[in-house]
This record gives sequence, structure tokens and C-alpha cells, in this order.
Amino acid sequence: MAEVVPLVLVEREPEGRIATVLLNRPDRLNALNGELMGELATALRELDVDPDVRCIVIGGSERAFAAGADIGEMATASAIDMYLAQRVDRWDAIRSLGTPLVAAVSGFCLGGGCELAMTCDLIVASETAVFGQPETGLGILPGAGGTQRLTHAVGKALAMDIILSGRRLSARQALEAGLVARVVAREAWLDEARRVAREIASKGPLANRLAKEAVNRAQEGPLSLGLDYERRVLYLAFASEDAREGLSAFVEKRPPRFEGR
Ligand code: CAA
Repeated sequence: MAEVVPLVLVEREPEGRIATVLLNRPDRLNALNGELMGELATALRELDVDPDVRCIVIGGSERAFAAGADIGEMATASAIDMYLAQRVDRWDAIRSLGTPLVAAVSGFCLGGGCELAMTCDLIVASETAVFGQPETGLGILPGAGGTQRLTHAVGKALAMDIILSGRRLSARQALEAGLVARVVAREAWLDEARRVAREIASKGPLANRLAKEAVNRAQEGPLSLGLDYERRVLYLAFASEDAREGLSAFVEKRPPRFEGR
């Protein structure tokens, strides 16, 4: 019988207060398909209700944190399939976790990958990390909080540049722009993120949960409205011919021909 490979790997430190959840789809640069997102949300929910876990690190591989939502999966999905796929529920589950989340980012952190990192409470980035929201190149737009969280993090001008032109940011640029909290040496991306997580875990756990809620409150009001709006326009974009063309073109490894319809 073929061995079932988990799409997320959960590690607990013996005696430790932190857990690490690693995305494990290396042949697809950790592209976030429905199955992976389901496993991720389940693993995180379980850790969130464990009182011994005080901080969770979410990481990928050295080459890629995650290169976005799974384009092959989206290329064959209708707007209604997308709506029914409970995709939004999984993102909401991650967003509503009380435990502090540290994103450990090395390599590509694009599209839904960048949105996942921004859903975490802070980002520790390897100097190799590359951030971007390339969705408009596929005829769609960021649909898991990117238009809202990126704008809050880096301001309107830079967010527009990244989202409309597909500009990518290096780790240093992301640090200067306020998207990431710390940049660390290439080989230390996971160890340093875990060190930060241990620091967080050494503080009052209730205080940390409340502080996380309060900091999020600083953005929440407009964010909820913005997320709702973003979802609606994503489904609209998804129903377009341009989305079919952009997504298929990636899968077929050719440049897209957009008609604006
Ligand atoms: N979905 C599905 N498969 C992906 C993928 C994705 N997002 N990103 C990479 N892959 C696959 C590639 O197709 C390739 O598969 P094969 O080996 O079968 O050809 C494999 O992963 C390795 O990737 P590359 O050969 O392309 O690696 P590279 O080093 O040449 O390029 C890259 C890396 C620049 C990240 C390139 O893979 C890329 O551009 N990926 C897509 C990035 C992107 O557009 N992300 C946004 C997705 S849409 C989104 O996220 C939607 C949303 O919020 C609603």
C-alpha cells in the first residue's frame, strides 16, 4: 500500500512550550491546495486548544515558504466550486487562533503564501525570502486577505505597486517596509524563528493572547469589511475569461493572453 505523506508536519519540542508546523509539499513549492489547507487548519486548531503550547511557528522549506494557492487546482474550478470549497472557513480558522503565530519564511513567499505569512502575528524572514502578490498576472487578485493586510503593513503606494505590477520585495525591502519583523541569516531561518517563539512562549500566555487580540483590534473594524469585500470581488474575478486564461496559461507553461473580459 502506498505510504500517505502528510502535507503538514507537526513537531513538538520535548518539555518545550512551542510547536512547529511545516508545510510539506516540496515538489509544488508548498502550493496551498484544499487538502493542505485542511490539514493545516486541523493541526493548528488542535495545537491552539492545548494549554502547553504557548507559541506556534509555521514554516515551509528552505526553497519556499509557499508559492501561493494551487494554480492547477484553481484552473479547473468554477467560481461556485471555489465558493463551496470551504476555503474561506480554513483561512478564518487560522485567523481566529488565540495562540501567537510566528511565520518562518525562507525562499518564495508569494500569493496565498504571502497571505498565510501575513495571517501570522509576525514574520521572521531568511535573507533569501522573496515576497509578492502575483495574482493579477493570473487574471485574479489576492483573495485571502492580501489586499487588506499588505496595505495595512506597507501602506497604499507600495501595496498597489506589489499587487498591480507584480513587484516582488526582498527580505531587506520587506523589513524596511514593515512587512516582516526580523531578517536572519539564510541557514538560521527556522532556528531563529523558533528562538523568537521561545521568547514569546516565556511570557504570560494569557497576556499574550489578549495582547494579540488587542493589536489585531487596531486593524479589525475596517479589516473585516475589507476581507468581505475582497472575497466578493475574488469570486467575480474568478468567473472571468481572463482568470481561466491566466490560470491555464501557467499550467500550460505559456504567456497569458488577457482580453479584459
Ligand atoms: N500552484 C501550483 N503549482 C505550483 C505553484 C502554484 N502556486 N507554484 C509552483 N508550482 C509548481 C510548478 O508548476 C512546478 O511544477 P512542475 O515541476 O510540475 O513543472 C514546481 O512547482 C516547481 O516550480 P517552478 O519549476 O516554476 O520553479 P521556479 O524556481 O522556476 O519558479 C516560482 C518558482 C517563481 C515561484 C514559480 O513557480 C511561480 O511563478 N509560481 C506561481 C506563483 C504564483 O503566481 N502564485 C500565486 C498563486 S494564486 C494565489 O495565491 C491566489 C489567491 O490568493 C486567491
